[in-house]
Amino acid sequence: MRLLLIGPPGSGKGTQAVLIAEHFGIAHISSGDLLRRHVADRTSIGRAIEEYVNRGDLVPDGVVMDLLRKPVTAASQAGGYVLDGFPRTVEQAEAAYLVAKTLGASVRIAVHLDVHRDELVRRVLARGRETGRADDTEEVINHRLQVFDERTRPLLDYYARREQLINVNGARPVEEVTWSVIVQLQRIQRQLNG
Ligand code: AP5
Repeated sequence: MRLLLIGPPGSGKGTQAVLIAEHFGIAHISSGDLLRRHVADRTSIGRAIEEYVNRGDLVPDGVVMDLLRKPVTAASQAGGYVLDGFPRTVEQAEAAYLVAKTLGASVRIAVHLDVHRDELVRRVLARGRETGRADDTEEVINHRLQVFDERTRPLLDYYARREQLINVNGARPVEEVTWSVIVQLQRIQRQLNG
């Protein structure tokens, strides 16, 4: 089981990735969490990318690919993963596809969490007030949403054409969204197993 969660900021990628990974007994890998950990630990990578993350801009592809290569390879060999926040652009998806192919792991399923803008902004600002996450401010969330529309949304067409794409209404209670994803995944697994 190799899943990619795609959705705008606040759509619930992190929340759902934890629950889905737990359900299938596979690894959860979050590019955003890995990057934020480097920033918090003040590593050389963290210092180089902090500005990008705090502004809501995408971190250069090379940095993200280098960080993810090891955990994704290990998880792929151990039975699968839920990747949350990667790929983020068609270029990242193409690079990831080539890596996955060399691992014999090219069939993947992309899950799109669809949530309307007002709810996304509400969730992100509420979390910002609670946790102080640097990019959860009114100004930065607007930019993050714009980056999603320009750089990430084209991925939905890409996955609809090349691999399996599941669309899920993410503007529902957490457990309902999880079950909707799991039911659709089980259906696809049955189809793939013939
Ligand atoms: P990343 O960490 O990926 O953040 P994001 O995409 O902006 O997503 P969020 O973490 O804001 O939201 P989410 O969809 O995970 O929702 P969550 O479950 O947290 O990326 C951050 C930055 O890192 C990027 O801007 C970029 O700089 C860099 N980066 C990361 N990946 C990169 C890549 N591949 N390439 C380049 N740069 C990269 O939920 C949000 C809130 O809503 C929570 O409070 C949660 O409790 C609540 N919530 C969740 N589900 C529900 C629900 N169903 N109902 C009500 N509330 C809910």
